[in-house]
Amino acid sequence: MTHTEAWKIHHPEGKYRVLATKRLVGERWLEVLSTFDCRVEIYDAEEMFGEAELIEAIGTRCDGALGQLNEPWNERVLTHFAAAGGKVISTYAVGVNNIDLACASRLGIAVCNTPGVLTEATAELALALVFAAIRRIAEGDRYMREGRFLGWLPHLMLGRQITGRTLGLFGAGRIGQTVARALAGGFGMNVLYFNPHPRPELENYVSDLAALAKKHGQPVPSVRHTEDLDELFVQSDILVLLSSYSPALHHLVGARRLALMKPAAVLVNASRGPVIDEASLIAHLKNHPEFTAGLDVFEFEPRMVDGLTELPNIVLSPHTGSATLESRSNMATLAALNCAGVLSHWPANTAFSTTDLATGPMRKLVPSLLNAKELSWPAT
Ligand code: GLV
Ligand code: GLV
Repeated sequence: MTHTEAWKIHHPEGKYRVLATKRLVGERWLEVLSTFDCRVEIYDAEEMFGEAELIEAIGTRCDGALGQLNEPWNERVLTHFAAAGGKVISTYAVGVNNIDLACASRLGIAVCNTPGVLTEATAELALALVFAAIRRIAEGDRYMREGRFLGWLPHLMLGRQITGRTLGLFGAGRIGQTVARALAGGFGMNVLYFNPHPRPELENYVSDLAALAKKHGQPVPSVRHTEDLDELFVQSDILVLLSSYSPALHHLVGARRLALMKPAAVLVNASRGPVIDEASLIAHLKNHPEFTAGLDVFEFEPRMVDGLTELPNIVLSPHTGSATLESRSNMATLAALNCAGVLSHWPANTAFSTTDLATGPMRKLVPSLLNAKELSWPAT
């Protein structure tokens, strides 16, 4: 059940009824939506929406929805949405594993997301977790707050150095490549990546970095694609998970693959929680005190599996990969353009970067329409 007093109406006279299940960041998204004749009903409170809340909010007439990544846009909800006249689900995220895309396509509902503008923010958070885990930053912070610091000691909070070591990447999309460029360029790391297909743009970039590093006498990075998933686990000193999620990836990281990893490796997850079998990770962290992990996403989000928060060698963040003011504001603009654009029948963008569309001059294009082909939607 939603609370009546939490609903705020923006531009009440708008022709299209658009639902925003949370208030997004900034004001521009609301300007875009009202300019294109949308009445926006915003749920301005923190409770999460499940199936019942979505169906209640959709009601009997709803043209578009700005949804969140933790809402179940499944067959039941989508069917209700289609019956209410719903034309577009514009999710405030890049990941769309919470939306039944095939079902939406069957029902003629457009599904849009916000790629590109969150690449840097999410890469930066993944890097923050890498450093926080390997240098035990959260553990050190707790130690200080508890008044346990007696002074400098030779063995206090020993971590590991990353320079010259191997960075494993599971998923080398935009975000993964940004992490790879940072660690190869900044610390001469050797990048080993697992991705459905090779990434020549990343390989060329790291080759150029390697030439530059050699010329200046700095640690020389390298890069290599692998199709052998187990090799990725065996070789990585730092393994960062940054793939999109599908059920085929459920528990990709379990006891067997953790056992392949180096005893003092670092595992960071900024993709989706269920990629990791958390019970196995907890057992592994207990048995290998030198192994560290950094998680931004959780198997049963928001619930923490028993034991996770008691471990010293793990750092946790509350799914804040894209949480910078810049990123979240641009995501809001894209989400609004996606929604207004579908309702106004603009062509699907194929020509411009989503960052240009979010920050540059207004263009009447739907920035990121994922099922354009299935809907036979005209494109640029
Ligand atoms: C965040 O997890 C996203 O998918 O945008
Ligand atoms: C997401 O935007 C990715 O491609 O990694």
